[in-house]
Amino acid sequence: MKTKLTPSPQIAAQFLLRGEPVAFPTETVYGLGADVFDESALQKIFVAKQRPPDNPLIVHISHLSYLDLLVSSVPEFATKFIEAFWPAPLTLVMPKSKYVPLLATGGLQTVGVRMPKHELAQQFLAACGVPVAAPSANLSGRPSPTSWQAVKEDLDGRIACILKGAATEIGLESTVVDCTGKTPVLLRPGAVTLEQLQAVVPSIKLFSAGTKGSDAAKPPPSPGMKYRHYAPEARVIIIEPPFPGDAAADAAYIGLEKIFDTSLKLKKICRSLEDYAASLFEFFREADRLGAKVIYCQAVGEEGLGLALMNRLRKAVGQSESPN
Ligand code: TXA
Ligand code: MG
Repeated sequence: MKTKLTPSPQIAAQFLLRGEPVAFPTETVYGLGADVFDESALQKIFVAKQRPPDNPLIVHISHLSYLDLLVSSVPEFATKFIEAFWPAPLTLVMPKSKYVPLLATGGLQTVGVRMPKHELAQQFLAACGVPVAAPSANLSGRPSPTSWQAVKEDLDGRIACILKGAATEIGLESTVVDCTGKTPVLLRPGAVTLEQLQAVVPSIKLFSAGTKGSDAAKPPPSPGMKYRHYAPEARVIIIEPPFPGDAAADAAYIGLEKIFDTSLKLKKICRSLEDYAASLFEFFREADRLGAKVIYCQAVGEEGLGLALMNRLRKAVGQSESPN
């Protein structure tokens, strides 16, 4: 299949409405979207990405009026988060309506919904006129794509269309909050931070293996968390003080401080935590392109955006106990 590249949200929407998955930019990462009610289009997403079928998709909406189609009820604290944050890099998991196919939710009776803030994403969603189910637009297991070029690297010839926008601003996937229990649970940290969520609903908990209580037969609240994500080919090593004096051969380094004087295949000293987050996944891809064997990543404090950044670093190392 030839992959069409277009800057036009209207042209991209035409592909989607013909049942073809379309990659599109958001403020977090690029997504691979299909009409949530079109099961054959949803199937194509799983095939193109080689995604396990029990990993649920996030449904993107351009307007609150779509929410009633997707959920059977809006929990009280979900309403608070919606009022405080949307449009935002914030996905809320709620009880699904009967209209949402189980294919979109990985078989769960819940659905994750997000209203992105990104202007081109909103134009695209409005042109589609349907809720758009979209995982990140990478091959399963690869780092999420933060540019259209990264989407093309993974999915060229596997999807019909890429909506070309700028590189994404945030660079880490959205915050995911489960709103189906007695108190909200942060399943995946992101740019809407735990501290910001706590200011709206103080009882919110950080997911840990025991959070969902005693019912051991329950599936994990977020099936995606059992898969290795965000991982480059190279081995990722998180480093904190005292820093090693010399880097391994064929190594790359990303962090906030200048650490190694020795030669590195690739190096990025980031201006800020935001810059570090926005650069991480493209850095992983570039290190792989250059054939680096090891990627050193400087640890950061787990406050604010730091919680999300450390979560992705641990995922890349393969430490799967961390929240999704
Ligand atoms: O920023 C983002 O969230 C991007 C853009 C495209 O919106 N999307 C994204 O999708 O990162 P994806 O498929 O890579 O991650 C979706 C994750 C799933 O792996 C799962 O952990 C969680 O969101 N999720 C989705 N629906 C869920 C549900 N019903 N219950 C629990 N977790 C859910
Ligand atoms: Mg993903």
